[in-house]
Amino acid sequence: MSADQAAPSYQDLRRAALAAAEPSGYGADAAIVCDRLVRIFTADRVEVQALQGLDLVVDRGDLVALVGASGSGKSTLLNILAGLDVPTAGSARVAGRDLLAMSAGDRLRYRREVVGFVWQQTARNLLPYLTVAQNIALPLQLRGRARSRGAAARRSARVAELLEALGMGELAHFRPAQLSGGQQQRAAIAVAMVGDPAVLLADEPTGELDSETAAGIFDALRTVNRELGATVVIVTHDPMVAGEVRRTVAIRDGRTSSEVLRRTVVDEHGAETVSEREYVMLDRTGRVQLPRKFLEALGMEHRVAVDLEPDHVAVRPDDPTGS
Ligand SMILES: Nc1ncnc2c1ncn2[C@@H]1O[C@H](COP(=O)(O)OP(=O)(O)OP(=O)(O)O)[C@@H](O)[C@H]1O
Ligand SMILES: [Mg+2]
Repeated sequence: MSADQAAPSYQDLRRAALAAAEPSGYGADAAIVCDRLVRIFTADRVEVQALQGLDLVVDRGDLVALVGASGSGKSTLLNILAGLDVPTAGSARVAGRDLLAMSAGDRLRYRREVVGFVWQQTARNLLPYLTVAQNIALPLQLRGRARSRGAAARRSARVAELLEALGMGELAHFRPAQLSGGQQQRAAIAVAMVGDPAVLLADEPTGELDSETAAGIFDALRTVNRELGATVVIVTHDPMVAGEVRRTVAIRDGRTSSEVLRRTVVDEHGAETVSEREYVMLDRTGRVQLPRKFLEALGMEHRVAVDLEPDHVAVRPDDPTGS
């Protein structure tokens, strides 16, 4: 953002966000609740507002795709949810944990026990000198509470269970370099899931793969969601992935701007069709962000006339004649 734009300063944003962050029951039992989340990066004394008051609620057990232009804040959001980064202001709760109030120790435990994370770069997810089975077992070993023979047996059973669920039992003793990109990402999902996290986060997990391989990874993420019960959030540019989930949330300029919900509708003859509807976000203060194409189509800018009708709200271009 250029310095001459009349953007609120960091202090303004921080004050506003802190003042607004009163305790409330908003999304109390959802898996993820972000409320007016702000993340400001400062580099060379230039502030970048990567998240500008982002609101997002993800229900437990949901599978959600996050889409948005490059630089819109998707990775910033995911890194915060993963406990790898701390927001500047606002609030974020994941599986009941307050991400702004964790000590360093809490944060470490949170990353090990509450969330799983899959990176886009296949090489970043696995240790090259360990086999697939050893990679998957490692997070459990790092928890390292019990070193008994019983613990080792339970660990092996858990690794076998995941390999089976993700259809990669025959790859247990391969090293990452012996696997295709798609197999590596499948293994990465197993590593992320081994500790039975409540939430699995994946930042463009299919970004380095061709579309056929990407479809397999998406299936694996769906398996994790349906069979292992994790709430899954996937950042993706892949229209195939975004087109298959029930809910796709679009991020624009550091805020959630719209979302598409898909429902399977059964008609009177029993035929199934998928109905798709786009919604825009309504925040708690009543603000909505209208799609840019709507604004352009009707030449709306600066202000609009708003009228309450019996069952809807009409938004019209400002009429300077007042008629
Ligand atoms: N560590 C950082 N320091 C400074 N600016 C950053 C940092 N990380 C991200 N940003 C800036 O924050 C904004 C959002 O970046 P982010 O990586 O979240 O976007 P994204 O939606 O993931 O984009 P892409 O689709 O390209 O991955 C960008 O303007 C980016 O340059
Ligand atoms: Mg990104």
